[in-house]
Amino acid sequence: MLLMTSQSIFSPSFSNLRTVSPPKLPRKARCGSVTVMASGDSRILSDVFFEPFEEVKKELTLIPHRQDVSLAKHMYTDDAEDSINQQINVEYNISYVYHALFSYFDRDNVALKGLAKFFKESSLEEREHAEKLMEYQNKRGGRVKLNSIITPQMEFSNEEKGDALHAMELALSLEKLVNEKLLYLHSIAVRNQDVEMADFIESEFLGEQVDAIKKISEYVAQLRRVGKGHGVWHFDQTLLDSA
Ligand SMILES: [Fe+2]
Ligand SMILES: [Fe+2]
Repeated sequence: MLLMTSQSIFSPSFSNLRTVSPPKLPRKARCGSVTVMASGDSRILSDVFFEPFEEVKKELTLIPHRQDVSLAKHMYTDDAEDSINQQINVEYNISYVYHALFSYFDRDNVALKGLAKFFKESSLEEREHAEKLMEYQNKRGGRVKLNSIITPQMEFSNEEKGDALHAMELALSLEKLVNEKLLYLHSIAVRNQDVEMADFIESEFLGEQVDAIKKISEYVAQLRRVGKGHGVWHFDQTLLDSA
């Protein structure tokens, strides 16, 4: 253990340091310098506040040797790892529902090709989100665990609203649900003081999620205006023509 004088360093990696009363040193040595003594050692090193080879000893003993254990895992808690796996499952479930919606609107007797295209792209996007989370899990040294996904409903006709509005309202509520799940994931990162994970969720997911909610809300509003018939065909054409 190192004993510090003249200066305290408040950092988790310096937790094996403690401040002690300064030994009597010549005035010149005390002024503006930091002194370190190795425990059980009478050495006094002036102007040194960090000895990397001493500090790293503990970390060296913690490097795993088993081949089935991550080398990179560092300051990454089990609940963070679990919550990333749960979010992967959420994204896959939403992707599956959007794929079901694609197949419904692509039917010959429904034939709303713009909506089919929109939900196909949406399904792919959710799968990409799942993949991005998998890559993050691997980067942090966690282990990806895939869980079961639920069989989605396949019929979206709706007497009162029509299928297009019904489907888009369903999509809006799903996106809001995903937003809640992402905020929960972010709260786990904050609770663990995992700044990097919080930044990852903020920069890669939260902004995009809010944008998606706004876009789908506008689609719901537009579909409410156009009714169930001819207007839906025009709405569908605008989706088909969009990039
Ligand atoms: Fe997503
Ligand atoms: Fe989404």
